[in-house]
Amino acid sequence: MTDEKCKVIEHRELGSGYRFISFDAPKIAEGATPGQFVHVRVPGLEPSALRRPFSIFNAEEGRLELLYKTIGRGTAALNAVKPGDVVSVLGPLGHGFPLKCNGAALLVGGGFGVVPLYFLARRLISKALGTSEAKAPIVKLFVGGRTKNDLLALDRFEKLGVEVHAATNDGSFGAKGLVTDPLDDELIQLRTAGEKFELFACGPDPMLKAVSMRATGSKSKGWISMDRHMVCGVGACYACIQKTVRGNSRCCIEGPVFAAEDLVW
Ligand SMILES: Cc1cc2nc3c(=O)[nH]c(=O)nc-3n(C[C@H](O)[C@H](O)[C@H](O)COP(=O)(O)OP(=O)(O)OC[C@H]3O[C@@H](n4cnc5c(N)ncnc54)[C@H](O)[C@@H]3O)c2cc1C
Ligand code: FES
Repeated sequence: MTDEKCKVIEHRELGSGYRFISFDAPKIAEGATPGQFVHVRVPGLEPSALRRPFSIFNAEEGRLELLYKTIGRGTAALNAVKPGDVVSVLGPLGHGFPLKCNGAALLVGGGFGVVPLYFLARRLISKALGTSEAKAPIVKLFVGGRTKNDLLALDRFEKLGVEVHAATNDGSFGAKGLVTDPLDDELIQLRTAGEKFELFACGPDPMLKAVSMRATGSKSKGWISMDRHMVCGVGACYACIQKTVRGNSRCCIEGPVFAAEDLVW
C-alpha cells in the first residue's frame, strides 16, 4: 500500500452524473488487482475531511483509472479536479477477486458495480491469453440498472469480447426487469449442459444477496464485493463491518470481496 501523489491525466463527464478520471500512479498501478480499491484525498475539502473509496476500473502501464458517480460533498468536490493537478491516492487497498475461475465467469453488476468487474474481465482474459491456454475463458456480463443511463462502460466490456446481457427496470435497454432474469436463464442453460461456472458480483445489496443465494444454492463459487461506508480504509476504525460466518469482518481489510458462502445477510 502506498500513499502516492498522483498527477491527473484525464477527467471527463460520462453523463448521468458519472465521471471518468485517470492518474499517473505507477506504484499503485503496479500492485493493483481487480476488486481492490483506492482511498482518494479530495482536493478542496478541508484537511480533516476523510478520503473517499473508489474501486479500481483499470490499472496498467503506470496508469490508474476510476469511474465515479457524483452523490455528495466529496464526489462533488472531486469534479473540480483538472488534468495536471496532483492528488493523494492511498492504495491498492483490500482483498480483491480471485483470478482463477473454474468454468465460465459470470459477472453481475449494477450501477458503479461494473467498475471492478471491468478490471476483473480484463485480467481474466489477458491472464489466459498470456499463458499456454489455447483460448480465453468464457466471461459474460449481466448488468442491471433503473434505466439505460445507469449502464456504464458496456462498450469497454464488448471490446474485450465479453458477452453483455443487460436488464433495465423501465425496459429502456436490454430486457425489462431485474438483472437476475437474464442471469437465471443463463444458469438454467449451464446447469442443463452440466457446465461449471463461478459468479462475481458488485452492486446494490439486494442484488448482491440475490447473486449470493444463487451461488450457494447451486454449490458454485460466488465472489461478492460489498460496498460499505468507509472511514479510515485501512482497518483501524471498524466503520465498515460486514457480518460473516467468522463474525464481524472489515470490508476494507478482509473485503471488499468475500466468498458468498461466508456472508451472513
Ligand atoms: C470499496 C468501495 C468501492 C467503491 N467504488 C466506487 C466506484 O468505483 N465508483 C463510485 O462512484 N463509487 C464507489 N464507491 C462509493 C463512494 O465511495 C461513495 O459514493 C463516496 O464515498 C461518496 O462520497 P461523497 O462525499 O460524495 O458523499 P457523502 O456526502 O459522504 O455521502 C452522500 C450519501 O451517500 C451515502 N454513501 C456514502 N458512501 C457510501 C457508500 N460507500 N455506499 C453507499 N452509500 C454511501 C451517504 O451515507 C450519504 O447518504 C465505493 C465505495 C466503497 C466502500
Ligand atoms: S473503514 Fe476503517 S476499518 Fe474499514
